[in-house]
Amino acid sequence: MIKVWADSAEAGLIDRHGRRGSTFAYLTGSTPTCAVSITMPVRLASWNQDYGLAPIFEMNLPEGALRERLRLAFAKATGTFDDFDLLTIVGRSQVGRLRYTARDDKLDEGVPFQSVDEILKARRDDELFSHLIEKFASYSGVSGIQPKVLVRDPGTSQILRADKRRLSQSFRGATHIVKLWDPAEYPQLAANEYFCLRLAQHCQLDVPSFQLAENGAALVVDRFDLRDDGTYRGVEDFCVLNGRPTAEKYNGSYETAVIKRLNDYVDNRNLTADSEKLFALIALNVAVRNGDAHLKNFALVYDDVEGEARLAPVYDIVTTAVYLPADRMALTLDGSTKWPDARRLQRLGETRLMLSPSRAREIMARIGDAMSKTRGEIHTYRKDHPEFDDVATSMLRQWDIGMQQALMAS
Ligand SMILES: Nc1ncnc2c1ncn2[C@@H]1O[C@H](COP(=O)(O)OP(=O)(O)OP(=O)(O)O)[C@@H](O)[C@H]1O
Ligand SMILES: [Mg+2]
Repeated sequence: MIKVWADSAEAGLIDRHGRRGSTFAYLTGSTPTCAVSITMPVRLASWNQDYGLAPIFEMNLPEGALRERLRLAFAKATGTFDDFDLLTIVGRSQVGRLRYTARDDKLDEGVPFQSVDEILKARRDDELFSHLIEKFASYSGVSGIQPKVLVRDPGTSQILRADKRRLSQSFRGATHIVKLWDPAEYPQLAANEYFCLRLAQHCQLDVPSFQLAENGAALVVDRFDLRDDGTYRGVEDFCVLNGRPTAEKYNGSYETAVIKRLNDYVDNRNLTADSEKLFALIALNVAVRNGDAHLKNFALVYDDVEGEARLAPVYDIVTTAVYLPADRMALTLDGSTKWPDARRLQRLGETRLMLSPSRAREIMARIGDAMSKTRGEIHTYRKDHPEFDDVATSMLRQWDIGMQQALMAS
């Protein structure tokens, strides 16, 4: 059995159910604020899954390289290795406000310290990176295909501890996400993502602080779910909001699986602001040719599971067309994954996100201006980083195509 904690309080128990499923039951006396998800209110009846874990519990399970590493390290002990096993390993340290322990264990994230400065100064061939994965894999309740770990930076932890609030005294959680890359598969991925995030910043979207390591060896991102008092906000990605498993992250349309869900969960008074942000984010993904904007790359955040949910800050934007020139969108728009042109984007903004025609045009123009500005930064960076040159050339070519097609009315 796995015990689920919500905001550091015991919320319920997950158990295996049938051959492949799971069941979750809230503890008796749980108050509504203990809800594990905005999609799973507190109730007496259990929540059953015929296959795997409920989407909210599966949300942060590592995929790709990190999952494989944990499987190799832990499969021997259990004989088999499934999502339930993986959750018991990475459950103590997770993105968002839920944590998982054995039934009788206390909560203790206990993430080891790792200086972010040291990571930023390390070079690609440095041993630090294999060491990071080795040491932090089992503290990394964070999804995604790219190798990455959650770390606790001593400097940041001190700031949190210095805060007057009581909870911060015992802060032992992770403060940053460190994203690495495989040179054989995705060369210069961190620099690619860095400049896509810079672009999002120039578009005045909310982006957590992020830093690129020397020689582009890693991208270090501040956790946007960590509050100043050392507690964590709720995070739910759009797989969860659609009740879908991670395996279905590429299935769905912008119209229903993203925009309709935003309308379902964001309060009316915040809906205009968040619809504008979402429109900018979708248009930006199209303009930079990010073919990986799937359901787990959009999320909602909230302070209180019963309170207001808002569109999460921007994360994981990459010009994937650098690596897959024929890449298309991860989700459909008007039933197709073909990159939309400016006319279709404009229509999306007006008819689905309820923007005025002039507001939609303004947002698209803002993205165009921000792309020109970021382009200058890419040129400056590539001068001192010849290893980025090929990827920079390819990125800028894709941005040109994207800008022409997606932002300029024909
Ligand atoms: N700054 C952040 N703060 C908190 N959580 C984050 C942050 N950035 C990303 N996340 C969470 O971590 C998950 C994985 O991060 P990210 O999407 O950047 O990884 P990835 O490996 O590039 O993903 P993909 O498999 O989509 O390529 C996200 O889906 C999101 O839930
Ligand atoms: Mg992602």
